[in-house]
Amino acid sequence: MRLAMIGTGYVGLVSGACFAETGNDVVCADIDAAKIARLGEGKLPLFEPGLDEMVARNAAEGRLTFSSDVGRAIAESEVVFVAVGTPPRADGAADLTAVDRVAETVATSAARPTVLVMKSTVPVGTNARVRRIVAGAKEAIHVVSNPEFLKEGNAIDDFMRPDRIVLGCDEEDALARDVMSRLYHPVTLSSERIVWMDPASAELTKYVANTMLAMRISFMNEVASLCEKVGADVHLVRKGVGSDERIGNKFLHAGPGYGGSCFPKDVVALVHTARELGVEIELASATDRVNQRQKGALARKLKYGYFAGDLRGKRIAVWGLAFKPRTDDVRESPALTLIDAMLGEGAEVRAHDPEAMGNVRALYGERIQLCEDAYRAAEDADALVLVTEWRQYQNPDFTRLKRIMRRPLLLDGRNIWSGYGLRDQGFTYDGIGVRGS
Ligand SMILES: NC(=O)c1ccc[n+]([C@@H]2O[C@H](COP(=O)([O-])OP(=O)(O)OC[C@H]3O[C@@H](n4cnc5c(N)ncnc54)[C@H](O)[C@@H]3O)[C@@H](O)[C@H]2O)c1
Repeated sequence: MRLAMIGTGYVGLVSGACFAETGNDVVCADIDAAKIARLGEGKLPLFEPGLDEMVARNAAEGRLTFSSDVGRAIAESEVVFVAVGTPPRADGAADLTAVDRVAETVATSAARPTVLVMKSTVPVGTNARVRRIVAGAKEAIHVVSNPEFLKEGNAIDDFMRPDRIVLGCDEEDALARDVMSRLYHPVTLSSERIVWMDPASAELTKYVANTMLAMRISFMNEVASLCEKVGADVHLVRKGVGSDERIGNKFLHAGPGYGGSCFPKDVVALVHTARELGVEIELASATDRVNQRQKGALARKLKYGYFAGDLRGKRIAVWGLAFKPRTDDVRESPALTLIDAMLGEGAEVRAHDPEAMGNVRALYGERIQLCEDAYRAAEDADALVLVTEWRQYQNPDFTRLKRIMRRPLLLDGRNIWSGYGLRDQGFTYDGIGVRGS
């Protein structure tokens, strides 16, 4: 099938490459001409494990091309996916400017009956809104809602082996149903993985899934705060609770608050959508409030727990800048909240991340020092804060750290070092709701 992927970011590039991998002819189009030019030279604009090989292979075999001419990409395709950004507006609502723009281009450019697939995360009602925009098109436009559930860092596997594919489609739209079934056939193994529903339910499903996951994290972060007060250990509580099959053990890790381009904005957008309709989703609002507070937890611990309220002139080392491991994405990363707080307090920040330093450099320039070597960042540090649990930070050379740091203070935002007996090795060790040893 000939398809266009409009928006070539984390979702669009992965989805485009995966659809090419399963034999389709895919053109990835984006208004960012510089990004498209770099892709044409074989350079990826983002880091995602395995993506560079997949893009290179499919480009070389002629199934994957790149274009900054969105109208032409649409005109030449039978299926058009919308994977543009839907960032939060100041009031928390999803900004649909880019979605509208693509829909307008579809209305004027579609040159054949076209299936228009909304892959971006969009509030309930967007499918209907897009239908109104394309209503004047010369050709029939079949609008489908297909929210994406891939996770950065594991995106290719998530796309190729999805838990489920949610498709919001009119029951009587046989053409759209047939096209979507065929497109996803290679990755569904059995058709039971496709959950068909109406468009509004599909749109809502995405927000409810993300909010529920975020809610678990915020709840455990609150539990972690309580653990610190009562001398309990959130690791043990998590194990005890998560082994209940009804609860399950995923998304129960306490930490520095959730970040990324999805959870923060999607939770707030759900609250906003509901509020506009006179419904108050209080658990979602509380999830966001707790997270905002939690994102300040590391900075508060440092300032009041270890430096008597005065961080001026202190050198703080930060390990991990991406909002989670295996991505270079720093949007809403708790590491940025920590860095802002440290700079605001007059501390000096030295940081390391295996993949995200380029994105952080673009934000901070010379205001922080980025080190190619993780240990270099820790040299003469008054504290080392672990913010992102990259594998290479899991079992570092603590003897070396002890030797090179000015003060042996380890603040472990992911509780990955709590079982290492670090206090016995002369460190001051602190985590999030764990006793540590
Ligand atoms: N990143 C994730 O893990 C993830 C997972 C599931 C769903 N989503 C959703 O998918 C959507 C895209 O997210 P992302 O992280 O890939 O965003 P992104 O910012 O990485 O990419 C968006 C791309 O869209 C392009 N774009 C913007 N306006 C355009 C237009 N009018 N025409 C063509 N291209 C345009 C931008 O230049 C950019 O390259 C969002 O709605 C997001 O909520 C993201």
